[in-house]
Amino acid sequence: MYNINELMERDYRPAVNPQKNSSYKLTLLVVALKVSVVIICDIFHWFINLFKSSEPENISKKLALVTGGGNGLGRSLCFRLAQEGCDVAVVDIDYKGAFQTASEIQEKYKIICKPYHCDVSDKNAIYKLKNDVEREMRGVDILVNNAGLLYTANFLTSNVEDIERAVKVNTLSQILMTRIFISGMIERKYGRIMSICSITSIVESPTMVTYSATKKGVDGFIKALKEDILVSGNDEFIKLFLVYPDFMHTREEISNVLDAVKHFLPRLSPDRVADDAVNGLIAGKEYIYATDIMPIYYAAKFLTKNAKKHISTSILDSSIFFSGNIKNKTL
Ligand SMILES: NC(=O)c1ccc[n+]([C@@H]2O[C@H](COP(=O)([O-])OP(=O)(O)OC[C@H]3O[C@@H](n4cnc5c(N)ncnc54)[C@H](O)[C@@H]3O)[C@@H](O)[C@H]2O)c1
Repeated sequence: MYNINELMERDYRPAVNPQKNSSYKLTLLVVALKVSVVIICDIFHWFINLFKSSEPENISKKLALVTGGGNGLGRSLCFRLAQEGCDVAVVDIDYKGAFQTASEIQEKYKIICKPYHCDVSDKNAIYKLKNDVEREMRGVDILVNNAGLLYTANFLTSNVEDIERAVKVNTLSQILMTRIFISGMIERKYGRIMSICSITSIVESPTMVTYSATKKGVDGFIKALKEDILVSGNDEFIKLFLVYPDFMHTREEISNVLDAVKHFLPRLSPDRVADDAVNGLIAGKEYIYATDIMPIYYAAKFLTKNAKKHISTSILDSSIFFSGNIKNKTL
């Protein structure tokens, strides 16, 4: 382990090429044999588990924290978690929205629900949030990293400040939130971290270059973290979930942009996606695809270059459904 600041202050020192000694082949052979035994045991356990019915997890009385909980999908997730009996910390940069969500939930479900103002792309604000939530409520059991900016733009004309903000809110915030909240979960030996990704991290689409990259970052982050947690032995009590929602009708401006392609892309309600996400969490499903057309998205990956071009240009040029040319606009 090294400190990045100290490393960058030092003069650059090229590494010496390590010499392979003769025992490395033997070491590789021993490791390969051990791994083969582990794989056989894993297959055996998997087979036994096929015949066991796994009970859904009871998350009642757990404390869930949802970022971006003031509006859209985050708001629906807060309601759905409260329905399961969770207490909820509703976190948003839009305090009015968070307050509204928390008040309605408190009224409807007799659980504890509090609003918190926080810009989740700011590390100091996250440290303050953690202190406030732990003092006023308790340690977070379920962290839902949902806050995000669905950013559509022609990449070549897109605004550099918008790109920076999208990366900070969509990707950096999820890494910082997880880093700052996971230590308490490990100490308490319980934690569920749900990451809201996007279908665009699976199917790359034009006009969503930066957005798609930020969501692929989230996808890669959680998958790599799974490996870290496995190696450190924390995988028994820390579980990670990735949710891939299809397009939803949430914020008005985004919905208007997506109207351009409404005849091609279905749009789901945020309640439906929240339902899929929370059902997946209690069923222990690590990858949750909140869409009705996953096979079509997978099939799209195998299209030839010209077929992809044809489909994309037909959608984007579609003046029947959109009074303007989406290709030349920063949306
Ligand atoms: N809407 C879609 O079609 C769609 C599709 C797939 C995935 N998603 C993802 O779902 C998540 C929710 O999207 P949505 O459509 O509900 O968005 P939304 O714009 O309706 O709501 C996002 C919420 O996050 C809050 N927020 C934004 N920046 C924040 C910050 N820095 N700190 C704290 N809160 C902040 C906003 O105030 C808002 O309340 C996002 O991660 C988005 O990328 C959306």
